[in-house]
Amino acid sequence: MTTSQRIIVGISGASGFQYGVKALELLREQPLEVHLVVSKGAEKTCALETDYRLDEVMALADVVHSVGNLGAAISSGSYKTIGMLVAPCSMRTLGSIANCLTDNLLTRAADVVLKERRRLVLLARETPLNLGHIRNMQAVTEMGGIIFPPVPALYQRPQSTDEIITHSVSRALDLFGIDVKNIPRWGEGNLDHHA
Ligand SMILES: Cc1cc2nc3c(=O)[nH]c(=O)nc-3n(C[C@H](O)[C@H](O)[C@H](O)COP(=O)(O)O)c2cc1C
Repeated sequence: MTTSQRIIVGISGASGFQYGVKALELLREQPLEVHLVVSKGAEKTCALETDYRLDEVMALADVVHSVGNLGAAISSGSYKTIGMLVAPCSMRTLGSIANCLTDNLLTRAADVVLKERRRLVLLARETPLNLGHIRNMQAVTEMGGIIFPPVPALYQRPQSTDEIITHSVSRALDLFGIDVKNIPRWGEGNLDHHA
């Protein structure tokens, strides 16, 4: 029996719940089974920062796992995935991942992705950074994860917040070999207006 490839999306409680939603929207166009886990912190940012209802966000994923369910499939390395995107990634979740503290399903799934040497991309969001944040970023990088702060690419002259978010998330998905259509790329003709 063949199964389609799977990717895990974690949404944690940093500012930018919209990054997670955008990832789910873009992944719907891909031939991938999307597994979603939303932290308690993200439930709060969803309510405080956006007009989304959590159930409509969850409906964008193929499989939704409760953050407390440490017995979920994505808690085991034997359950094959291409990796995990955490968008956005709070400093609390970053710290847990950096120190292998598998205290909920989101951080356990990330830990599993690292131990299986699969792709882990963290859209880490905080500013400014203290030394603890930087050390945690170093530790995750040394373990093979990718720290991807969602810094706006102003070279693409974005016209809206949605464009900024779409560009960051598309570039993060690039790191999984996922090709999001119509992403503006330097040198491919659609950004050369001021070259
Ligand atoms: C509106 C709001 C915005 C927040 N923004 C950030 C942020 O940008 N970065 C961050 O690390 N934490 C941020 N926090 C704090 C986290 O939500 C908090 O540390 C939480 O415990 C994270 O838990 P989680 O990683 O399990 O989601 C914010 C909290 C709220 C309520």
